[in-house]
Amino acid sequence: MKFFIDTANLAQIREANDLGILDGVTTNPSLMAKEGVKGNDAIMNHYKTICEIVDGDISAEVFSTDFDGIVAEGKKLHAIHKNIVVKVPMIKDGVKAIKWFTDNGIKTNCTLVFSAGQAILAAKAGAAYVSPFIGRIDDSGWDGVELIAQIANIYSIQGFKTEILAASIRSALHIIKCAEAGADVCTCPLDSILGLLKHPLTDIGLAKFLEDAKKM
Ligand code: E4P
Repeated sequence: MKFFIDTANLAQIREANDLGILDGVTTNPSLMAKEGVKGNDAIMNHYKTICEIVDGDISAEVFSTDFDGIVAEGKKLHAIHKNIVVKVPMIKDGVKAIKWFTDNGIKTNCTLVFSAGQAILAAKAGAAYVSPFIGRIDDSGWDGVELIAQIANIYSIQGFKTEILAASIRSALHIIKCAEAGADVCTCPLDSILGLLKHPLTDIGLAKFLEDAKKM
C-alpha cells in the first residue's frame, strides 16, 4: 500500500518525506486555504514547491464544476509538473472531464466519492485514483472501511485498474483497516502516520534495553 500525506503544509510534507516512506501528496481547497495560499500565482507556486519536495503523485484539485472549466484548469495544473494528478469532483461534468483527461494522457484523482456506484463510474472514465472519504462516511453513521472493501471487491472482479485511495483518514486504526480492506493508497494526516509508530511496550522495552546497555 502506498502512503500519501493529506496536507498542504510544507513543514509536515517535509517531515513525512524525510521518514522515507512517502509516495505522494493530496491537497484540497480547504487544506490550501488553511495554509493561507491565496491567488493563482501563489497556488501554482505552492504546488510547484510540493512537487520539488516529494517525488511522487501530487493531487491538485480543480475549482470549476463545468466540463470546459475543469479541462482548462486541469491543463494548467498538469503543466506545473509531470507529477501533478488533476483532482476532479465526482459530478456529471467531472466524470466527462476525467474521460477527457484519460484520453489525453493526464492522470486524475476522482474525489468526493461516497458510494460503490460512484467508484464504478470513476473507474469507467479511467481515473488513476478514486478517493472514498472514509472519515466523513463514519461521521454520518456508516462504515467507511466497508466501502473500501466493497470497491476493492468490485474492481478485482471487473479488472478495473483505478487505484483505491482511502481519503479522509482520521487515525492510525483507519490506516490499518484500509490496508486490510484492500486500499491501494492511504492519504493521511501526519499525526495518523506517526500514530502507527506508537506502542507502549516498545517504549518500555527500549527504556529497559538502554538501561541494561549501560551495564555492558
Ligand atoms: C483528500 O483527498 C481529501 O480531500 C481529504 O482526505 C478529506 O479529508 P477530511 O474529510 O478530513 O476533510
